[in-house]
Amino acid sequence: MAQIGRREFLAATGAAAATLLAPRTSAAADSRIEILSGEVLGRIAPEIHGHFVEHLGGVVYDGVWVGEDSKIPNEGGIRRALVEHLRAIKAPVIRWPGGCFADSYNWRDGIAPRGERPTRANFWVDVPEIQGTAQKFEPNAFGSNEFMRLCRLTGAEPYFAANLRSLEAQDFAEWVEYANAPAGSTTLAKQRGGEPFDVRYWGVGNESWGCGGNFTPGEYATEYRRFTAWVPQMGVDLRFIAAGPSSGDYEWTRGFFETLVARSRGQIRSVWGWALHHYTWNVSQGRTNDWIEGKGDALKFTDEEWYEFLREGDRMETLIQRHWDVLAEFDPQHHVKFAIDEWGAWHRPGSQVAPTHLFGQQVTLRDALLTGLTLDTFNRHPDKVAMANVAQVVNCLHALFLADGDRFVTTPAYHVFAMHADHQAAESLRTVISAPRVRHTRNGEPESFWGLAGSASRKENRIVLTLVNPAIGEPRETEILVRGAAIKEARWTHLTAEQLNAHNSFESPGALQPSRGQARVTGGAVVHQIPAKSVVRIDLTV
Ligand code: AHR
Repeated sequence: MAQIGRREFLAATGAAAATLLAPRTSAAADSRIEILSGEVLGRIAPEIHGHFVEHLGGVVYDGVWVGEDSKIPNEGGIRRALVEHLRAIKAPVIRWPGGCFADSYNWRDGIAPRGERPTRANFWVDVPEIQGTAQKFEPNAFGSNEFMRLCRLTGAEPYFAANLRSLEAQDFAEWVEYANAPAGSTTLAKQRGGEPFDVRYWGVGNESWGCGGNFTPGEYATEYRRFTAWVPQMGVDLRFIAAGPSSGDYEWTRGFFETLVARSRGQIRSVWGWALHHYTWNVSQGRTNDWIEGKGDALKFTDEEWYEFLREGDRMETLIQRHWDVLAEFDPQHHVKFAIDEWGAWHRPGSQVAPTHLFGQQVTLRDALLTGLTLDTFNRHPDKVAMANVAQVVNCLHALFLADGDRFVTTPAYHVFAMHADHQAAESLRTVISAPRVRHTRNGEPESFWGLAGSASRKENRIVLTLVNPAIGEPRETEILVRGAAIKEARWTHLTAEQLNAHNSFESPGALQPSRGQARVTGGAVVHQIPAKSVVRIDLTV
């Protein structure tokens, strides 16, 4: 497992500018943050707060779709509580219908009048963990039009993921036509009804190195080229997202682009987003061979596993940088950006709220810290990351919501997305963070982890600073300054708890909630205690 050392971290956050630091204002502080208001890294794409809905377990059926006739409050069949909460965090984009499911999905199954749609075996039918019948069989009640309803209700932009493994390029082109052809213009437009969906984002296959076809990178590049050639534009600026690597598979990135540009360098321009996937898990003791059971537990973990998990999640920084370096070999102008359309925590089964929720899991304080540190990482790379989609929105890995029948609860991950929402479309500012490293043990040996990490962004005279303190036992007395401006007012939001595995449940929906207050400003700077094991937001008016 790769680690990011203090040196790389400091370099990434601009610590090379340490000589620029202003004089200390508090002798008591053990940590210091300087926000360099003159050093804008770029605009933070709102789409990095994107979501993901797959026909898998309890995500669509139960989570999103309850049906028009349900007693559960709904908007045209879509769970109302989910819609309201996604609106509240300004959900910018939703990816659908998979994941692995996407490469088994025939979009035509989901467009007939509801009662006439076929039932099919779901992609996940053979995973033994699915109990009962839910999601073994796909009723197709939720298709393209229902997904668009979800998008319109929440204000999110649609991101359709197309089937490259088991349908043809013609089917892809016709799905684009179904979605985007002007009203009444073609047979498919008439079938769709109403105004065009204007879908800009199109995934061209998913994990094509695995469930998406077991392709070599070269084979996939050839398929990708064929699928994306001469797709009807219908006046929409189509943005194709190519199936990228799993975590540190740099050969997938290199191999794909080598073949893609073999005939012409110009082919680079057909790729809008490169879909890196990175999941975070602990390897469970003695059960390392099974891809599901080999993962660690969502609720039961040791202090060592706490840091191990955060370390695994923190690899995102290195993955972005190193894949970016490979992209530069083919695309020195960096036309292609990352669409990190699957990321999040993946624990072994056992904590799901209903037996049919395949890959459903509880979301604890530990997962909240992973959420914070990942979103901060994206904020620090606004030039590279154009979109990211947490996997998945409800009843699945790293969910923001858990729902079962008429019960619904927000998870700590939801609260972190809410705390970060104001970073959307703001200017990311270089931020120098200096804090003592956290000491812990790893396999019986002394080890350490960074002491504080975060990101800052500005909209006019308002700065939002978000931080993660990973230390289980050490709060950080932190001095916060803005280079080139005096802080006039500061407010804090903390998300923390006594228990490392604190989480919300249907019985205790408010067990883990943010708390808020006013911070002390002295001489244009702030000294504030960042609690141990916390995600923190500081709002500064300058
Ligand atoms: O998010 C669950 C699965 O993880 C997705 O279907 C697949 O793309 C990935 O391997």
